Amino acid sequence: MEQRRRCGHLFTAAVAVLVAAMLPSCTAKLSPDYYRSTCPDVEAIVRGVVAKKVKETFVTVPATLRLFFHDCFVQGCDASVIIASRSNDAEKDAPDNLSLAGDGFDTVVRAKAEVEKRCPGVVSCADILAIAARDVVAMSSGPHWAVEMGRLDGLVSKAGDVAGRLPGPDMRAKDLAAMFAAHNLTTRDTVALSGAHTVGFAHCTRFAGRLYGPAAAGPAYDAAYARQLREACPRDVSPDIAVNMDPITSTVFDNVYYANLAAGLGLFSSDQALHVDGASRPVVKEFARNQTRFFEAFKKAMVKLGRVGVKTGRNGEVRKDCTVFNDS
Ligand code: HEM
Ligand SMILES: *[C@@H]1O[C@H](CO)[C@@H](O)[C@H](O)[C@H]1NC(C)=O
Ligand SMILES: *[C@@H]1O[C@H](CO)[C@@H](O)[C@H](O)[C@H]1NC(C)=O
Ligand SMILES: *[C@@H]1O[C@H](CO)[C@@H](O)[C@H](O)[C@H]1NC(C)=O
Repeated sequence: MEQRRRCGHLFTAAVAVLVAAMLPSCTAKLSPDYYRSTCPDVEAIVRGVVAKKVKETFVTVPATLRLFFHDCFVQGCDASVIIASRSNDAEKDAPDNLSLAGDGFDTVVRAKAEVEKRCPGVVSCADILAIAARDVVAMSSGPHWAVEMGRLDGLVSKAGDVAGRLPGPDMRAKDLAAMFAAHNLTTRDTVALSGAHTVGFAHCTRFAGRLYGPAAAGPAYDAAYARQLREACPRDVSPDIAVNMDPITSTVFDNVYYANLAAGLGLFSSDQALHVDGASRPVVKEFARNQTRFFEAFKKAMVKLGRVGVKTGRNGEVRKDCTVFNDS
């Protein structure tokens, strides 16, 4: 709260122009204590809602985690992905939203409702999503970390902004690395964050090219795994059919994903590529050997992901309703 005020003052003060010229973007000062005086129980409130929702359906876990990633990579971590469209033109309507599961949106909306009862107009939807993404990981046996807070909710959400900003399942390691590096995420961060694919589902259409295409379509699958996938995903299967991304422990946030890569059980080319590429393979091996190392790297990378494109001052607001801008 304090930091946000300070940022606001900078812009409204008489010297705003001068200061703004010196500090092109009012640098966001995120902190785990951001709401200490204004909404001290925010994390407990969110955790309660998330726990209830996870009990209702496990999909809450992958859906919320992926929602956070998509939010941060498009326009920064500003809850722009949660804006409901009026005419199918918001971020969530982009073809590239890659079928974000509704349970992630629902988690944030429900948590926001509970938080508003206690601290109206104080906590941003972007922060609630960041907290919820941490909680779902912890609730599926993954690590727990201190979430930085103080993001504002964005004022823009356009479907047209999504294209090209999110990684595709057929991407090569070099291209993935470049896309993540643009957000200050290293190869180690990229490998760690990809470990999120230890939970959740993927639709057959997302890897059909690799499964049925020419050999050049991607690195080879383990033969038995490929047979299993072809059974679950016959050539003209309904686009609604999905498979577990981690075929071994799909509901546990663990390091089995990395062991899978070494065994040819990476579902997407982009997953398998991490084991093929010389720069990322040592990291894959390290995480496969030692889950603690994976957890440490994942925590660090999630905190960094949470800093991408954060809005402050005039570039944001605390939405009353996560699905609509305040002025609409
Ligand atoms: C490295 C590049 C990445 C690519 C190419 C990629 C691509 C995909 C694709 C194509 C799906 C399947 C969606 C569907 O068929 O419904 C998926 C699912 C998922 N992704 Fe990624 N992703 C990447 C990185 C990440 C990161 C960084 C995270 C989070 C930190 C993440 C979290 C998830 C989760 C949890 C799911 C499962 C969603 C569900 O079950 O609803 N992904 N990803
Ligand atoms: C994702 O985009 C498609 C259109 O490309 C839309 O039909 C679908 O409802 C969107 N998903 C969500 C969760 O908004
Ligand atoms: C990029 O990440 C490094 C550490 O991983 C950090 O020290 C630095 O401040 C970050 N830069 C930006 C612009 O976020
Ligand atoms: C895993 O890594 C942690 C942290 O670096 C280290 O303390 C631990 O000894 C390692 N465990 C194994 C089995 O190598």
